[in-house]
Amino acid sequence: MKSSKQTVIFHGGDYNPDQWLGYPDVLSEDFVLMKSANINAVSVGIFAWAALEPEEGNFQFSWLDDVFDRAEKSKIRVILATPSGGKPNWLALKYPEVRRVGRDGLREPQQRRHNHCLTSPVYRSKVREINTRLAQRYGDRPALALWHVSNEYLGYCYCDLCLAAFQNWLKERYQTLDRLNDAYWSRFWSHTFTEWEQIRTIDDSIHGLGLDWKRFMTAQCADFLRAEAIPLREHSPGIPVTTNFHPIDDYDYFRVAEEIDVVSWDSYPEWHAHPDPLDESDIAVETAFRLDVCRGMKSGKPFLLMECTPSQVNWRQVSPLRRPGMLRLSSLQAVAHGSDAVCYFQIRKGRGGSEKFHGAVIDHAGHANTRTFREVAALGATLGRMPDVTGTRVPAKVALVFDWENLWAINASQSPQNAHKEYRETCLHHYREFWRRGIAVDIVNARGGLDGYDLVVAPMLHLLPDGLPERLEAFVDGGGTLVATYQTGYVNETDLCFTGGAPGPLRRLLGIRVEEFDALPDSVRRSVVPRPSAGHGLSGVYEARHFFDIVHCEGAEPLAEYGSDFYAGSPALTVNTCGRGRAYYISSRNDDRFQGDFFGYLAGALHLPRVIPAPLPPGVTAHLREGGGERFLFLLNFTHRDAAVSIPPGAWREIDSGALVEDEVRLDPLGSKVFRSSRHPESWK
Ligand code: GLA
Ligand code: ZN
Repeated sequence: MKSSKQTVIFHGGDYNPDQWLGYPDVLSEDFVLMKSANINAVSVGIFAWAALEPEEGNFQFSWLDDVFDRAEKSKIRVILATPSGGKPNWLALKYPEVRRVGRDGLREPQQRRHNHCLTSPVYRSKVREINTRLAQRYGDRPALALWHVSNEYLGYCYCDLCLAAFQNWLKERYQTLDRLNDAYWSRFWSHTFTEWEQIRTIDDSIHGLGLDWKRFMTAQCADFLRAEAIPLREHSPGIPVTTNFHPIDDYDYFRVAEEIDVVSWDSYPEWHAHPDPLDESDIAVETAFRLDVCRGMKSGKPFLLMECTPSQVNWRQVSPLRRPGMLRLSSLQAVAHGSDAVCYFQIRKGRGGSEKFHGAVIDHAGHANTRTFREVAALGATLGRMPDVTGTRVPAKVALVFDWENLWAINASQSPQNAHKEYRETCLHHYREFWRRGIAVDIVNARGGLDGYDLVVAPMLHLLPDGLPERLEAFVDGGGTLVATYQTGYVNETDLCFTGGAPGPLRRLLGIRVEEFDALPDSVRRSVVPRPSAGHGLSGVYEARHFFDIVHCEGAEPLAEYGSDFYAGSPALTVNTCGRGRAYYISSRNDDRFQGDFFGYLAGALHLPRVIPAPLPPGVTAHLREGGGERFLFLLNFTHRDAAVSIPPGAWREIDSGALVEDEVRLDPLGSKVFRSSRHPESWK
């Protein structure tokens, strides 16, 4: 068995030699150029099925053998893909069932990619065959570092095979139609099911059905992935398996991630698009959050940044170039949040097809004399100076709950506030307070473990899965602090509202009940006023919008109240003491100043560890990774202004210059620096 331990940060990316088979000189140049760009890993074969099997049963591996030979000679690792993300024409036309059927009942004609059925036995068997041959042929190659299964799984198929599989999945879950009908409240509009076969369309008006469909498609994706990996695991034991995730909400990635050894992430933040040309903070927060979700999927284990653009994308309306410094800054951001890779899409820009103008390390010009190439090479050199970052962890005492099932339930619900549900944005609004203070946050989902955290922030937990209320209670009883918000505790796992009203089974823990909630248009604000002697860092009058719960305390203490409208005087912020801990409830969507005051107070009161003890300049963040007796400190400036940060105590050596740094560190606009310390001073704690 080969050792799967990763010892360097992967630096490289999608490499498509299969598109260049008629250009032998180009292939030779590629490896020379890659070496000078400090590239050490290439993802190969992602969309190469037609090159690997041009006709059914006619397998052509010599070109891939050649790539492995060249990679081994150049000491570049191969991340070998399975090709299921794009299928050859012969397969799609001979076996129509492999082509996905849309919600409109129409079968996809074989265009583009990522459009196969997840259920089709033919597709599964064809994929199994090609994957087996790849694994048998390359499983022992010294260059093979990782399996990249498929590419960006996404979407749903509504073909007869998928619907029949869904019906079976439902039979297993509910056993009887009576139980299913009860769970779905399907007497509503006379949708009672009397045969399993009647479940043939995913009706938006039956919320439990819609949720189950997404759960089923998640399970189908996980099952397809598991099946793809069987021959890989059999013929190349010890080589880890990944699949690259990307920003979609089709599947519950926390579930899909159970099938892989390491999470990979494709990241395409919209840098330089913010109306404030001096500050990239908004995009930086969103990117940081998504990176933390990746780390959260495997309970803190490092993940891999599998794709990002080295310069610009070509699929937005407008795609600015990354400004000088941004390639390094955003790549080090990923590493700071737990990535053990910086890989790009793509190494060499193709001559044709819809990605011919997408950024690449090697442009059509075909040489190294470009700004992008130089920035890639320089970053590769930096990453090469800190190989022992790989495997280190991000220590965090705060958990923020983000859950896809909850997102689906919120988005599907038809509620008094449809225009501004904003679940993910609300998570970001809370997350940002920690980001800007240099306080690490782990993202957990509603099934995630809460042990070891001091603070759990759970915005808008509309859907409460079985077991979560008990786990939150145990967390608070044991001394933890919980912050919950409006829109918490409305429905159970099948999207049925809790009898007894919100916050459902969290009523005792939060010590409140919500009588009703007001929904107001975006332009309207209501005031929130701290009670005298409320403390908690609160002062002055805050503004709230969108959601206004009318709360009654049942044991909780009100800390702030509404200042306007007919609910003036009723609680807007409460705290309940439970066991050794406390549970807060925020009743309205409050302004930034409230967020800053309240979470700033909690950060201090709970002594949440901050990477830099002093306040950070706006738009500058600080991150820590630690393990193996080493600590790595990342200072990142997401503004287009100079910044200065006082370095925390410890013998910090800058990775690039090797200089020992004390006191103040200066960061250029979009500047980023990494430091190492082998000491663990107590003053850190
Ligand atoms: C995705 C895909 C890649 C490529 C890039 C372009 O992430 O995985 O194959 O299309 O987008 O940005
Ligand atoms: Zn299907």
